Amino acid sequence: MNAIEILGLTKSYLTGFLRNKPKPALQPLHLTIQEGETFGFLGPNGAGKTTTLKLLMGIVFPTSGSARILGHHFHDPGIKKQIGFLPEQPYFYDYLSASELLDYYAQLSGVPKDERRKRIALLLERTGLADAGKKQLRKFSKGMLQRVGIAQAIIHDPKIVFLDEPMSGLDPIGRREIRELILSLKKDGKTVFFSTHILSDAEALCDRVAVIHKGVLRGIGVVEDLKSQTEDKSEVVWQGAHALAAVASLLSESNVAGEVARGVVRGQDLDLLLEKLRREQTRLISVTPLHGTLEDYFVAHTTDQEAVQG
Ligand SMILES: Nc1ncnc2c1ncn2[C@@H]1O[C@H](COP(=O)(O)OP(=O)(O)O)[C@@H](O)[C@H]1O
Ligand SMILES: [Mg+2]
Repeated sequence: MNAIEILGLTKSYLTGFLRNKPKPALQPLHLTIQEGETFGFLGPNGAGKTTTLKLLMGIVFPTSGSARILGHHFHDPGIKKQIGFLPEQPYFYDYLSASELLDYYAQLSGVPKDERRKRIALLLERTGLADAGKKQLRKFSKGMLQRVGIAQAIIHDPKIVFLDEPMSGLDPIGRREIRELILSLKKDGKTVFFSTHILSDAEALCDRVAVIHKGVLRGIGVVEDLKSQTEDKSEVVWQGAHALAAVASLLSESNVAGEVARGVVRGQDLDLLLEKLRREQTRLISVTPLHGTLEDYFVAHTTDQEAVQG
């Protein structure tokens, strides 16, 4: 079954003193996410990621369009039991302890008392907070708060977990912990839909990603496919630095160490470069294809030039 179907959702915020100036934040968005997928929603600041998540959560109302979650209309109250949500920069009442906060959210989701106690202990363990359960949240680091936030989102064992920028503002260790948590959700068969502007995290975690920019979907696909759509380049290393002058116009980068030269060439110019190097009587050391990264794809699809062309 499809976990999430976004059917042309759009959002214009009304801004200005009289709230009469519509500001488009999301153009018609169509997206389908399968059950069990880990899906990354990528885009720079202001792209429309949080707006999309808030629309799906029913926190803001769409200007037009609709969505279905596990086959139900996304505003169907029954669906709340099946979804968990970590907002961007969540704010929790910070005089509560982690256990109290989780107990509160579990009550909201109607988890019975005995079950709550068991689940909270398990979740604190799972999020690496077993020793901090009684500590007040105001004493928590940013990374610990994010982990409590994820625990809150999964306390009722939902089928789909929505996370808005779960790794932002964390140090590398904090990010790794969140990454591992997301991987464990994936292993449990959960559908995870998370937004991020940190590409390496998306690359490491996602089955598929979508790139959004200025409210417009720019690309969607399996990470490896998107990467292969980026410009193909090769790195060529040869002995005979004297030849550099003759081939410099073909190279996007180059450097020399003693007699050895290195250059980066676009795929379409590779044959010509090799031919010229032969003519210059150099000795070829290596030719290495450079695969594009998700970052290359992201940059190519989030420039303003592209935005104009649509
Ligand atoms: N409540 C709001 N009122 C007016 N404009 C908003 C509001 N929330 C977001 N926006 C605008 O909508 C656009 C998308 O924002 P957002 O969804 O928060 O992007 P992202 O999460 O990708 O950074 C931005 O231009 C932002 O300024
Ligand atoms: Mg956001």
